[in-house]
Amino acid sequence: MPKTIAICNQKGGVGKTTTAINLATFLAFLQKRTLLIDIDPQGNATSGIGINKHNIKESVYEMLVEDADPRSIIISSGIDHFSLAPSTLSLTGAEVELVAVMGREYKLKKALISISSEYDYIIIDCPPSLGLLTINALAAADSVLIPVQCEYYALEGLSQLVNTINLVRENINSALTIEGVLLTMADFRTKLTTEVINEARNFFKGRVYNTVIPRNIRLTEAPGFGKPIALYDKHSIGAQKYREFTEELLDVKKDINQPNIAHSVDIPSNVNELQKIGDIEKSQ
Ligand SMILES: Nc1ncnc2c1ncn2[C@@H]1O[C@H](COP(=O)(O)OP(=O)(O)OP(=O)(O)O)[C@@H](O)[C@H]1O
Ligand SMILES: [Mg+2]
Repeated sequence: MPKTIAICNQKGGVGKTTTAINLATFLAFLQKRTLLIDIDPQGNATSGIGINKHNIKESVYEMLVEDADPRSIIISSGIDHFSLAPSTLSLTGAEVELVAVMGREYKLKKALISISSEYDYIIIDCPPSLGLLTINALAAADSVLIPVQCEYYALEGLSQLVNTINLVRENINSALTIEGVLLTMADFRTKLTTEVINEARNFFKGRVYNTVIPRNIRLTEAPGFGKPIALYDKHSIGAQKYREFTEELLDVKKDINQPNIAHSVDIPSNVNELQKIGDIEKSQ
């Protein structure tokens, strides 16, 4: 069975797609059979690895709405072990078209059953909303990876996300856990970045990765060239840090004896209560 990770934050532009593309790339470099699912109608993960959206005949839309076989929509990324389920703008209609469909929250989960033996990792790049597409991702996922941009009000809105994760766990996918929180676009010259890092670690304690992704111009440029950072500029700090992050994520995964907070306690929906997560963790 693959490990399925949804990369999720309803805030726009926090680094979800950048993380999805580069995590998938480094997983593939480590010989992990990886599928990246672009479930965002913007299709940034699709174009970000150099796929021309105009050439796509069948996409995640057909898989979710018309029950197309996932094998008919999955294409190669051009990198060994790295496949893509692409998205096009047509996916915008899916949220509306699926509303009256029975089991609409489970469309992705069901579609993935037939290919589950073919991958080690499935990474889902979510749109910046908590609508039906994101719910499908959370229903199909084992865990949620939350990128948090180092900026003003970085943690604002996270209570809503945690609330949604709780609702999904109560009603749709009881096994869903929080994979971790990844701090992105850090500018270590500013006091603000230090403050956000401290605040996030204070709230989420052990759930925040040690690796922090810095703001790096090469990471901004890479999608314009349709390349993951490892192929665009493998010596850049962005490439180095996404490799480090991928290795850290794999180590965490290996350590199955670590108490998993998302399993063992209810995640509070109020952001002020998030501090308790760390307190509970310390006492275990
Ligand atoms: N560490 C970084 N350094 C510099 N630029 C970055 C970094 N991470 C992401 N970017 C750039 O910031 C923009 C937003 O990033 P990205 O598309 O990954 O965010 P997102 O959360 O997927 O956005 P959306 O919510 O619209 O899907 C992009 O132009 C991307 O290239
Ligand atoms: Mg995105």
